[in-house]
Amino acid sequence: MITNRTFTIIKPDAVEAGSSGAILKMIEEAGFRIVAMRMTKLSPERAGEFYAVHKERPFYKGLCTYMSSGRIIAAILEKENAVADFRKLIGATDPALAEEGTIRKLFAKSIEANAIHGSDSDESAAIESNFFFAGMDIF
Ligand code: CMP
Repeated sequence: MITNRTFTIIKPDAVEAGSSGAILKMIEEAGFRIVAMRMTKLSPERAGEFYAVHKERPFYKGLCTYMSSGRIIAAILEKENAVADFRKLIGATDPALAEEGTIRKLFAKSIEANAIHGSDSDESAAIESNFFFAGMDIF
């Protein structure tokens, strides 16, 4: 069980807006070490697989369309208490409710196009990391 790692995606809206560099800077300055990273583009089917836990939600279809609409950056991050600390750094799902200074407050456009994803538990972090980095060497 991984306990000091979390997983993130810089989402299509933030990549398209040219905010990836600023977001990665905030992540590193908050003390996270990037241990794996790749830029990719999901098909709607792969996006649906990634967000399968939300399959019954009314926003699922739109979420899959949005998450496959452009390039994303997937990364594994390392830090003590990574999952909880990262969720604090990114702020609430809805940017209107996110605290000042959080990544979503600064960069998100809407509750759907909310700039960045962060795993909600160690278990999710392991599953989500595997989704993008299975079979790759991670140091
Ligand atoms: P994320 O933290 O990646 O997890 C699920 C995603 O679904 C969330 O970010 C948003 O992009 C999206 N989402 C969550 N709630 C809503 C909602 N009410 N309407 C539209 N999209 C949502």
